[in-house]
Amino acid sequence: MTNFHTKIGSLELASPILNASGTFNPSVFSRLFALKSYLGAIVTKTVTPNASSGNPQQRTVELPSIGMLNSIGLQGKGIIASMEVDIPQYYGCHDMPVILSISADSEVAFQRMTAYIEAHTNRHYLQGIEVNVSCPNVHAGGALFGASPQWVAKAVHAVRQETTLPLWVKLTPNTTEVVAVAQASVDAGADALTAINTVLGSHIDIRRRKPSLAKVSGGYSGQGIKPIAIHHVLNIAKALPNTPIVGVGGIRRAEDVLEFLMAGATAVQVGTHCFSDPAVFVDLVQDLEAWCIAEGVASLQDLVGVALP
Ligand SMILES: Cc1cc2nc3c(=O)[nH]c(=O)nc-3n(C[C@H](O)[C@H](O)[C@H](O)COP(=O)(O)O)c2cc1C
Repeated sequence: MTNFHTKIGSLELASPILNASGTFNPSVFSRLFALKSYLGAIVTKTVTPNASSGNPQQRTVELPSIGMLNSIGLQGKGIIASMEVDIPQYYGCHDMPVILSISADSEVAFQRMTAYIEAHTNRHYLQGIEVNVSCPNVHAGGALFGASPQWVAKAVHAVRQETTLPLWVKLTPNTTEVVAVAQASVDAGADALTAINTVLGSHIDIRRRKPSLAKVSGGYSGQGIKPIAIHHVLNIAKALPNTPIVGVGGIRRAEDVLEFLMAGATAVQVGTHCFSDPAVFVDLVQDLEAWCIAEGVASLQDLVGVALP
């Protein structure tokens, strides 16, 4: 048996394979398979301070064989209803560690939301927070929070002040300053970095002669973004060798997971591919196990960063 155990800062997980925020329904998967045998933790859909209905329709476009575009926005019930209902009932009932993904449009909102989480959390299952900075910063005219090391530092500091839970920052690739944002996150108290969120993209509906998405642009995800994600994981691992990285972007097969680990990721998340294959985690674990046995690899963690130049 290959050892799948992994450590992300102080957080110990039985497996380095997780779902990516906003793309996975644990209830559907757990009806067929024991979640614990395949996933190290469940990452929630991003929760915001207030309820939001998200962006107008049309919000998704399938891009056959390369992935998808989405402009769903951070749709949800807001932190109070999520903490009362969704997090315990939808995510917390599986006897698995839960990583709560959060986002806000100002550092004050981040701080208040984290204080609320701390006061209402059930630490038995809530074992970490992933800060999603792919959102507009109201104090910067609505520019992307995650584009600026200074803005991200303020948001992470605000969250860190209110919680001792393990804190991950989910980086956006939609900036030229990914490594600087990663460094600023760690300096402000992040324990780990998740890389990457979706890549900005658009699609034209040639029949209507208009952009397919009502918002014109959205987030590109799926197999086409894997080289971009691997590029960022390599760069972050080189710049911040002591910071755990959770790699995400375009994972479909065991070979993709191996690429991320070898590039320096300690764990991975699977997003878009969950839609076309909700049981993807079963194949991933079985194929990784088979690969490790064939290659004489005793522990997946032995592979972390081996491809770093
Ligand atoms: C429909 C959809 C919804 C998403 N919702 C969120 C979200 O709520 N929070 C977040 O941090 N990322 C969200 N993401 C981004 C994914 O978590 C992931 O970072 C990205 O899709 C890249 O991974 P993938 O190529 O495996 O999908 C979403 C992606 C998709 C496709």
